[in-house]
Amino acid sequence: MKTVLRVDNIETAYGRSQVIFGISLDIKEGETATLLGRNGVGKTTTLRSILGLTPVKRGEVHFCDQRIDAMATDRIARLGIAIVPEGRLIFPESDCAGKPGRLRQQPQQNQGSMDAGPRVRTVPATAGTR
Ligand SMILES: Nc1ncnc2c1ncn2[C@@H]1O[C@H](COP(=O)(O)OP(=O)(O)OP(=O)(O)O)[C@@H](O)[C@H]1O
Ligand SMILES: [Mg+2]
Repeated sequence: MKTVLRVDNIETAYGRSQVIFGISLDIKEGETATLLGRNGVGKTTTLRSILGLTPVKRGEVHFCDQRIDAMATDRIARLGIAIVPEGRLIFPESDCAGKPGRLRQQPQQNQGSMDAGPRVRTVPATAGTR
C-alpha cells in the first residue's frame, strides 16, 4: 500500500529545549494511526512538527511523496493536513450565546445559515478560557 505520510527521524526543539529525539512514522493510505504516550512525551509536538508549526531541526517529513518539512504551515495545510487544537484556546473572547445573535444582524453576509434559532440561544454564555 502507498505511504501517505512519512516522518523520518525528526528532531524538534522549543528554543534550546529539544523534545523530539528521532521519531519516525510510516502511515499508509487508508490507515488510521494513533500516537500514544504519557503526558509531555511529545505527541502534540510531533503533530506540530508535521504541520511546520514547530519546525523540525533535523529529519524529514514527506506527504504523498512531497517533502514538506521546509514548507510554511499554510502550504502544508492546503495539501490536506490539519490539526484539531487541544484545549479551549481558540476564541477566548467568544461565548455561545452572543455569537449567533451578532451574526443574525448581518443576514446578507451569512445567508441565514447561522440563524440557528432558539436552540442555540438557550446555550449558557460561558466564555472560553485562556
Ligand atoms: N511552547 C513550548 N515551549 C517549550 N516547551 C514546550 C512547549 N510546548 C510543549 N513543551 C514541552 O515539550 C514537551 C512535549 O510536550 P507535548 O505538548 O508535545 O507533549 P504531549 O505528549 O502532547 O503531552 P500531553 O499528553 O500532555 O498532551 C514537554 O516537556 C513540554 O513541556
Ligand atoms: Mg498533547
